[in-house]
Amino acid sequence: GESIPAATGEAEDDDLASLPTREGWWTTFVLYHGCWLSSPTATSVSLVRAQFAPRHDDLLLATYPKCGTTWLKALSFAVANRSRHRVAGGDHPLLTSHPQDLVPFIELPYRHLHPLAALDALPSPRLLCTHMPPQLLPPRVAELGCRIVYLCREPKDVVVSMWHYMNKVGNGFFLDLDKAFELFVDGFSLFGPIWDHCLGYWKKSMEEPDTVLFLKYDDMMADPAGHVKKLADFLRVPFTDEEVGAGVVEEVVRLCSFEKLSRLPVNSSAVVDRIGGRPMNSAFFRKGKAGDWKNYLSEEMANKLDAVIEEKLKGSGLTF
Ligand code: A3P
Repeated sequence: GESIPAATGEAEDDDLASLPTREGWWTTFVLYHGCWLSSPTATSVSLVRAQFAPRHDDLLLATYPKCGTTWLKALSFAVANRSRHRVAGGDHPLLTSHPQDLVPFIELPYRHLHPLAALDALPSPRLLCTHMPPQLLPPRVAELGCRIVYLCREPKDVVVSMWHYMNKVGNGFFLDLDKAFELFVDGFSLFGPIWDHCLGYWKKSMEEPDTVLFLKYDDMMADPAGHVKKLADFLRVPFTDEEVGAGVVEEVVRLCSFEKLSRLPVNSSAVVDRIGGRPMNSAFFRKGKAGDWKNYLSEEMANKLDAVIEEKLKGSGLTF
């Protein structure tokens, strides 16, 4: 069924004005189906839920913010398009385009300014990205069985990465680490609580392993080549023996590495004028290491977040 129309009508939950709100980050956040969103993002998500038309062969990259979205976009783009764009080719799109621009987000803070029609115009199979937790995805995504690659990360590294990022892109907004940490541990962060986000996709991946591939940033760091192969299998473009023998897997790893991407002019520039009002290109590349939290969080903070995460994930089988 390629001719399934977009969901129409108003979603039942779209009375955004009546949602619980909370202050603390750069703008008012609203609690939408158990997920904290900035008001512009809530408007966007609501629009997406009412109007986005998934296709059965869509491939969704889903992440909690700061878990390695940029990396996953680069890897998936390189793998999925390697018949068109030779990975080692001197004209590979990743050499001149920001990974964020090669795989579009379904929801954007200012989606109403950037019509969803742009996504309708993309040829199948589409590679799309989202920060939405599973309960916010348009219901058609599950009905059609769209495949999802989910990437999460050690929460202590996420809060440190997020803190740096928010202060870099917040347009004058500044929060000290103690305060940002407090909000995060309280479950109050963009697209948070983080534990509900991870757990939602974790459960889906347990129930439907063929539909949801669940990945962790630290594991990818430890074995990028193994994960690139896994990704290719899941995207249904497995590497041939010939490709493996020719070192294409390693070429993908190298092309998408932090070292390579972060040094490219396109990714180190301070370009701010971006689709959807996204921040400067370089903001998506900071350190790209597992365990950098050790340089920022006190032992007490680390223990506190560990305890909350352990409690929230108890019995799920998911650990960090
Ligand atoms: P750090 O702040 O810890 O360095 P997102 O892409 O979801 O916004 O996540 C950003 C985080 O991923 C940042 O983490 C960033 O440095 C890191 N990152 C960006 N590109 C990467 C890459 N190619 N490989 C590994 N990590 C990368």
